[in-house]
Parts: sequence; C-alpha cells; structure tokens
Amino acid sequence: MKNQSYPHLFEPLPIGTMLLPNRIAMVPTDISSANADGSVNQRVITYHEEIAKGGCGFIIVGATTPDRATGRPTVTCLAADEDPLIPGLANLAEAMHRHGAKCAVQLQHPGRQAAWPRKNLISASDSVVDLPGSAGHEVIYAENIAQGKASRAMTPEEIYALAEKFAEAAWRVQQAGFDSVELHGAHGYLIAQFMSPYVNKRNDRFGGSFINRMRFVLEIVNRIKLKCGKNFPVGIRYSGDEWLEGGRTLDESIKIAQLMEESGVAYVDISAGIFETPGTVMDPMYYPEGWNTYAAAAVKQHVKIPVITSHSLRNPDYCEKILAEGKTDLVGFSRQLIADPYWANKAKAGRPEEIRRCISCLVGCWQESLMIKRDMRCAINPAVGDERFIHLPPARQPAKVAIIGGGPAGMEASRIATLRGHKATIFEKTGELGGAILCCCTVPGKTKMRWYADWLRSQIKKLGVEVQFRTEPDVKRLKDFDAVLLATGSRVVRPDVPGINLPFVITFEDVLRCKNKKCQHYPSDKLPPAECGDTVLIWGDHFGAADAAERLGHAGKKVYVVTPHRDFAEWMEPCHRDVMLKRFKGGNGEGLKGKTCAQPVTIVRQSTVTEIKKSGEVVLMDSEFRCSSLKVDSVVLALVEKDSRLYDPLLSAGLNVAKIGDAVLVRNVRGAVTDGANAALTLEKDSVLNANNALIANLPTEV
Ligand SMILES: Cc1cc2nc3c(=O)[nH]c(=O)nc-3n(C[C@H](O)[C@H](O)[C@H](O)COP(=O)(O)O)c2cc1C
Repeated sequence: MKNQSYPHLFEPLPIGTMLLPNRIAMVPTDISSANADGSVNQRVITYHEEIAKGGCGFIIVGATTPDRATGRPTVTCLAADEDPLIPGLANLAEAMHRHGAKCAVQLQHPGRQAAWPRKNLISASDSVVDLPGSAGHEVIYAENIAQGKASRAMTPEEIYALAEKFAEAAWRVQQAGFDSVELHGAHGYLIAQFMSPYVNKRNDRFGGSFINRMRFVLEIVNRIKLKCGKNFPVGIRYSGDEWLEGGRTLDESIKIAQLMEESGVAYVDISAGIFETPGTVMDPMYYPEGWNTYAAAAVKQHVKIPVITSHSLRNPDYCEKILAEGKTDLVGFSRQLIADPYWANKAKAGRPEEIRRCISCLVGCWQESLMIKRDMRCAINPAVGDERFIHLPPARQPAKVAIIGGGPAGMEASRIATLRGHKATIFEKTGELGGAILCCCTVPGKTKMRWYADWLRSQIKKLGVEVQFRTEPDVKRLKDFDAVLLATGSRVVRPDVPGINLPFVITFEDVLRCKNKKCQHYPSDKLPPAECGDTVLIWGDHFGAADAAERLGHAGKKVYVVTPHRDFAEWMEPCHRDVMLKRFKGGNGEGLKGKTCAQPVTIVRQSTVTEIKKSGEVVLMDSEFRCSSLKVDSVVLALVEKDSRLYDPLLSAGLNVAKIGDAVLVRNVRGAVTDGANAALTLEKDSVLNANNALIANLPTEV
C-alpha cells in the first residue's frame, strides 16, 4: 500500500539485481570507528544497524580502503584489503539485512588526502597541497601552521596494481554478502584526482583527454566486473561540479554518467566539490536544503540508470517533492542520519516533526572527530559513538533535579533525565528556552540552529518537563532538589578600558537577539534593522563576534572585527570558516547563492582596544605595541567568559551541584549538549560529588 504522506519516498526501486524497499539512501559516511586494522567492530555494526532499523532502504557504508599500505582516508576507516576482513564485513551486512535494508560498501582510496600514511602519498600527479578542510591534512600539530602535504604521481604499474586491489576488495565485499559496491570518485580523493583536470596533469594514457582521465576508473570497473560477475551492481559517486577554475564541471559530469552507463555501472551518486572548495563537499549550515539537486536532475535527463542526490536534505516534504518532480531517483543523507537514524520511520509514520534535523554544524562529525583522527560523534545526537544513549538505563530511584538555565545543555540534560525517569525542573531567567542558540536566529544562513532549539523545546514539552520562566532560584528554593545542574552558559566580558560604558558600546546579544515581541521564539523572515549606525567595530573572537559580523555585514554596515589572535575564528569548523571568510570578502562560498555582504568585513588581527572615545574614535594596539585608531558609530563587545557565578554559593550551601555546558568552559553546541547528556546519564537520587565535583552514582566504594 502506498504511504499516504510520502508516496514517492516509500516506493520500491530496482537497481540492477537489487530491489530497494524505498528511495531513501544513506550516502557513504566514514564513521572512522573501525578497529586499527580496518576490521568491523560492534561500534560499526551498531551505527549501521540503527540506520537500517530506522527504515533507510539503501545503506552505502562509507570509505573502505582497498589498500591500507598506501592510503587510509581516516586512521580508523574500514578496510577490505585482506580476506580475514570478510567475516566482520559479513556481520555488518547481516545486521542491515536483518531490518530489510539493502547495502553497499564504498571503496575509497584517498591518494593525496590520506590520513595514513602521513608521508610518500600517491596521486595522479606530483603536488603539494594544503587542504585544512580535509581529514587527511595534518591539523594536529601544536603549531598549526599549514604544512603542505606532498604527494607523487603513480607509475602506470602502480595504477594497474591498485585497480586490481580495488577489484579484489569488491570481491571481498561481495563474498561478505553486500548487495553492491560503490566507487568513490568524488571530493578530490584518488579516483577523483585522476578524473579532475585540475589535479591530473599527466601526459600519459591516464591524463589529458576526457577518456584518458577516465581510464583509471574504467579499469577498476572492468576488473570488478571480471572478478564479481556482470550481475553484481557497481555504483559510482562523483562530484557534479568541482566548483573551481580548471576543475570538472556539470557538462563533463553528464558525459561521465553516460560513459558509466555504457560500461555497465548500475547507478550514479552525484555529490559535489573537491577539497579545495570544502564548502561544497560538506556544506556548512549556510547552504539551503537541496542546493545540489540541480546536478542530479541534469544528469538524470541523460541516463536511464538510477541517480542519487545528496547534500543538506533534511525535510521529508522537500524530498518527496524532488522525487515526485523526477529530479532524482533516490534521496541521499549522511549527516541527517547521524543526527537521527530514524528519519525514514518518522516520515513513514507521518510524524516528521519528531525528526531531529541535522543543523549541518560539522562540529561533532568532522571538526572534533575525523579531522583530528578520532572516531565520529554528533553535536546533537549523543548516541553516536556512545551506545548507552541508545538504551538509556532507567533511574534506580527517581530523583528531583533542578536545572538552572534553559540553553542546549540544560534542555538536553532535562530530556535525558526525564527519559530515565527523573523529575526535572528547568529554571530559565528569561521568558524563553534556547540560550545561546537564540542568538543564531538573526544570523543569515544560521537559522538551521532554530531547528534544534525547536526540537528540544517540543521534546521537553512532550515529556512534561517543568519549566519556570523568569526565575532565578535561590539556595532555599533549591534545597528540595536531590541534584542541581548549573547550565548558566556564558556572559559578555567588559574589559576595564576607558570608555567601555559609553552608550554606543553594546554587546553582540544586543545585535543578535530577536526583539520581535509578537513571535515567541524568533522573528519572521523580515528582521528588524540592527540599530548601531553604519560603521561598527566588533571586539572578540568567538561565535558572538562571527555571528554579529555576518549579521551586520549582510545588513550593509561597514564592519571591523578586532581579534587578539593571529587570525580570526581559528577555532571554527574549517568548512564553515572557509565559507564565512569568503562571505566577509563580499562574495559567497562556492555553489552558494543569495545575499552577500554589501561591503567587505575587515579583520584587524593581533590587536586589542585600549580606549573608546566619546567621539566614536577607538584606539587599537597591536602585538608590537603600535597604536592606530578607527572612527565608528558603535562598538560591539563579543568577548565571552563562562558564567558560573552561582556555583560557589550553591556548593557552600551543601547542595549537590555540578556545572554543565558553557558554565564549565565556553565551547560550542556539541560541548553543551554532550555535557548535559552525560550529566543526566549518570544521575541518581543518591548521586554524590566526586573529587572533581562531578555528579556520580556508581562509585565502587560505599561513599
Ligand atoms: C563524517 C562524515 C563522513 C563522510 N564520509 C564520506 C565517505 O566516506 N564517502 C563519501 O563519499 N562521502 C562522505 N561524506 C560526505 C557525505 O556523504 C555527504 O556527501 C555530505 O556530508 C553532504 O550530505 P549531507 O548533508 O547529507 O551530510 C562524509 C561526510 C561526513 C560529515
């Protein structure tokens, strides 16, 4: 029977010899959680099994290397380069099949983008690259200066030998019971390095003309067909456009699809970008839903084999629409299924509002995991990499927990605590839940953050968490509670410099907070104008500063950002930073359309403010004690520090109090959510404070 709400999403689809139960695909995602030898472990199985359980029809397991010796995209990616790896892969396939999903493995060699080995990297051509957005780049040196990674051109003998290794790996995948295999020809990894005229400068039979650049991938396809038989479906993922001068474009991508169809390839999976244009590879939150669908739609007009589209797909209604319009055959999700593996089932049940939509922050799944050679996490889904959150342990005895502060840390703590059976009360000093997230509502391109705030608010409401608005509880009020979680976030610092209290010195919150009284949570699409004159100096180097610069720059102001650091926003997730800096220059990230800053945002590096004069003149001093001045209409303070002022009084009053989120240390949404989730996970009625003042209930001794 056809699904009432989403008939196209839940329509079966044949691909070669496979029959997919629906049109929902997990596009390859390297969760970098395998064992050091590349073998499958329980973490890998759990992650993929949850997605199968959640109703996804086709799961393409992420980057799996055909040759560990010459290239691993992440240090704990999967491998298929030896027969003893087959049993583990078989367990993985079985776990997905158990829930009705079809599955593939993506074979990937990173070439110049390898995380391992670190030296003597292979590629189509000799090159030295600095790709800070790539997991393979060395970002872990204390002195984080771009190193540049050298790679060398493969010899023809090496090329043929590696093509054979791909085929051998595909055969192992087939032996393990997978339904299909996919080749990774996107994002500037090895196959893409051969395909791209930007990277491939060879003048032998593997470089130059279109067909020469395709020779490596064709060689692999042919060898797989020989080893695995014509009926074993082989798919290919490649970028519809590399979005850089000298790179591949959509015209050629259509030709590639036709060539692949002729060569017996079963489907094409159309991605975007190369790591020189990182925003298109892993689109930051600035990118609108489905911005890359145009490429699949164009390719689809020229081939009969199924086409997959991906990138920032989040809403079932939108996905249904592009399927119904014939723009794609499958909708592909990577980060959406990290944030919520049950997307498909929630849509199928007609409850899309239950979906925890991915906010595309790339903090948990990229910046704080794969990029620094660790296994994958998620900023908003604590269950990624920590199974205890999948099967939450019920509370032994329900506790009464007070949570001070209704930001992401406080809300997530209340959600998990309530799910475990505790009674949580949030005390929020303003009239609204959301905390720091509410400041994102007015920032162009960051409104996806609202999704998460909305989701938390609706979950909390559904769970019946008590919320006391406009309340700052005192010790007396809190004495009734078994535990107190202090989630009071951060506050703006007012450095002691002359003029700091002048009326035109405002805070980033003044600039960003929505003041629209009609709307409970955030303004309508039309923002009220920012009242700060035409020329503004922002002082600080955290989200408040970056967001205020975006908001004011897009509102047409002349913006200066003063940072004490060598460069601005070095803490920021690199794909976001790349796009943000392009926007500051008055342009846009590649593939990103829409409004740009009317005037470039100027970054004043390694400097501080020493005086603010009544006339609006601001005196600056750089790291070599040189002074200069700027004339502005407003100064926006965006220096922040943790706000844990309540902690000592509560602790000395004998309360069981622990800090969570920015009240511990100013970080990002992942820091806040993880703290909140972890505190609520271990909370019990008889919790005590351990020697580090963390709440703990399972001490081995009877304390
Ligand atoms: C943590 C992470 C790992 C990824 N691993 C792979 C991979 O192994 N192979 C691949 O082709 N793309 C990989 N990608 C890219 C995604 O498949 C996808 O194209 C991209 O994230 C945009 O789509 P989305 O908005 O659905 O996440 C990865 C992305 C992330 C965030």
